[in-house]
Order: sequence, then structure tokens, then C-alpha cells
Amino acid sequence: MADRLDIDFVRAQFPQLADGWGYFDNAGGTLVPKQFIARMTDYLTTSRVQPNGTYGPSAKATERLTEAKRAMAALINATPEEIVLGHSTTNNVFVLANAFRSRLKPGDEIIVTNLDHESNNGAWRRLADIGVVVKEWRMRPETADLELDDLKALLTDKTKLVCATHCSNVTGSENDAAAIAKLAHDAGALVCIDGVAHAPHRRVDVRATGVDFYLCSLYKIFGPHHGLMYIKREHMLALKGQNHFFIAEDNLPLKMNVGGYDYETVASATGIADYFQALHAHHFPGANRPFGEQLDRVYDLMARHEEAVSKPLADFLSADKRVKLVGRKSADRKLRAPTFSFVVEGKNSDDVTKALDAQKLGLRHGTFYAHRAVDSLGYLPRGGVVRASLVHYNSAEDVKRLVGALDRIV
Ligand SMILES: Cc1ncc(COP(=O)(O)O)c(C=O)c1O
Repeated sequence: MADRLDIDFVRAQFPQLADGWGYFDNAGGTLVPKQFIARMTDYLTTSRVQPNGTYGPSAKATERLTEAKRAMAALINATPEEIVLGHSTTNNVFVLANAFRSRLKPGDEIIVTNLDHESNNGAWRRLADIGVVVKEWRMRPETADLELDDLKALLTDKTKLVCATHCSNVTGSENDAAAIAKLAHDAGALVCIDGVAHAPHRRVDVRATGVDFYLCSLYKIFGPHHGLMYIKREHMLALKGQNHFFIAEDNLPLKMNVGGYDYETVASATGIADYFQALHAHHFPGANRPFGEQLDRVYDLMARHEEAVSKPLADFLSADKRVKLVGRKSADRKLRAPTFSFVVEGKNSDDVTKALDAQKLGLRHGTFYAHRAVDSLGYLPRGGVVRASLVHYNSAEDVKRLVGALDRIV
């Protein structure tokens, strides 16, 4: 039984890592493992026809898609009827907000945050057009954290929905989604959680957290450019379908798919599950566990590795006076994902990323579409923040290179 991640094995699964770059923009999108590439290649070379026909290749395409939907549902502990695969999380939230619209009347309240990516924000704020009162759960400026007490103060008997992030894509801070769901439910509201920045680092269990709606982007979990949206079955049945009029209201989840999805993209998503299973088989040889338990083990190994390798970076960014780290000053996996945003004294953020480019260190700067968060912290005029976001395939050597380069640049 493995007590630590075999980083050499992990890195050997990601062909692009052979190019020598230190990849630190993983919260933007991760590299993909060979299991995913194999699935994509297989679909494109054997099943690239319209599915749902009775002839051989078409039946095979349907089978591949069914398999992928089952795997993606299992990834978050939902059922295939409860998941919507759409072009992106942003797209999925628009579909959900549109479905929600007919349930709302003027004076109803929705709570959104100013820490979230705009994805779980803008579509909800637009409901003000029909008289919905949009309230903002604000992060505390001194910590850049969302506090549950502040949410409590915003909830009323008119609150219909609370939208918040499980993990910030800027600060990396983890929020307690189960506690947010409980507070919302106690007030008679539903909850929509953006898990995009959480899912690459922690196992998602929509049942255990008790959320009503949950969002992930597969291209940040070592998979294809598509979004995965969970809608709890009872809500999927009750919400107004967004597909063509002849798609029945009990045709789940098809009623929520607007214009379908990319077949090869969805079919290849099975490669994410294949990869996690390969990690499990390598680290726990001979252990025959249900997929959910495999995920628990594998995610635990990944999280502990991420904490260990990101610690020197967290220490540097927290201690060095020339740098200001936004948010929690720790690598503790209970507090954060390994996503660190910072600004450098006297420098624009683009100067920092450009200097790192020259060292083959891939980072970006900006708002990362958490525009309201970066704006409220006052960092827009300097080009936003520099973000170093790790995943489990980053090595201690990568981090050593990054800290060394930053020490010279700042
Ligand atoms: C936390 C978070 N939520 C939502 C999104 C939007 O995802 P998508 O590109 O799938 O719309 C992102 C993308 O960066 C994100 O980081």
C-alpha cells in the first residue's frame, strides 16, 4: 500500500511534461494523460459517426458516450440522469439560470459572491432584469475569505438560491460547501456550488455535500474541454427544460442540453476515469475497490503530494517582503488548493510572468475572470495578480526552479 504519490509514475503519464517546461498554470487548464489521449484517438478512429443508430459504428459510438456519462457521474457521486455535459461551466450556468428564471418572481432574492469566477456570478446577476434582488456575499478584504457569518446575515425567507465557490481560483482557499448548503437549506434556499477549482485537487461527492447544483470543468481535471453540471434529480425534473419543445420534461438529462454536446469530447472523458484507475492500480496493486473508494485513495495521495511540494512556495510567498500573497499564508491541504496568487512590490504583474517565460516557467497573470475579486483587492491597475497553480504532477524540482526564479526576479 502506497503512502505517497509516485511522482515519476505520474509524470510518465503526461507526455507534454517531456518538453521541459514547469507548468504552473494548471488552474487555467491541466495537461492530459495518455489514457485520455488514447480514448480521444480511439473514438476518432473507430466511432466518429452520428450515435443512436442501429448500425455497428453508430451503436459503438452510443456505447462509448454512455460509458463516459457513467464515468463522469461516478466521478462526482451522481447518477447519469443528474449530469449535464455542456461546452463549458459558464455555458452550463447560463442554461441553469435560464431554467431557474420561470421559478422566480420580483422580490425573490439570490445571493452571489464577489470572490467567485464570473461564471457562477454573471448569469445569476442578470436575473435582476426580472426583478430578482441580487445580494453580494463579500469576502473580507483583510483575508480575502468568505465567512459563513456574513452569509447568515444575508439569508432571509425570500432567498431562493445561494451561489458560491467551493475553492477560489485566485486565492486557492477552500470553502465548506456542506456548511454553505446547510445554511442555505435551513433558510429554505437552494445552493449552486462552483467546484471548478476544487475538483482537480479533492474528490467531489455531491451527495455528501448535499448541494443542489454543482459545476466542474473537465479540462481542469486532466480531461477534455467540456463542462460537467450536476443537477439533483428532483430539481432536474422540476426545472423547465432548455432543449427543444418535443424533448419531454422527464427526459433526463437531455431536457437540459441545449444543442447537444461534442461527441468526441464527451467520449474521451472516460480517459479521466481510466487515469485515476491507473493511479490506483499502480499505488494499491491487487486492491479491488469500487471506483468511489479508488478516487478517495488517489485524491488523498494527490492532496498530500500537492501540500508537500507547494510548501516551499507558500513559505517564500508568505515570508518575502517584496511579495504579497493574496489569501491564506499556508500550504495546508485542509485550508487550500495549491493555487497561489501574488503581486510583486513595484512591478506590474505582466513583467513578472514575462521574466518567468524566459526560464521555461509557465504562469499567467490577470484576473482569471474572478474580476470582482481582483478589482476589490485593488490589483487591476497593475495587471492583476500573478498566479502559480500546481497540480499533483508538479514535482519538488519544478517548485525549486520557480522559487529560485522568483527570488531573482522580484
Ligand atoms: C473557479 C472557476 N469557475 C468557473 C470557470 C469557468 O469555466 P469554463 O471555462 O468551463 O466556463 C473557471 C475557469 O477558469 C474557474 O476557474
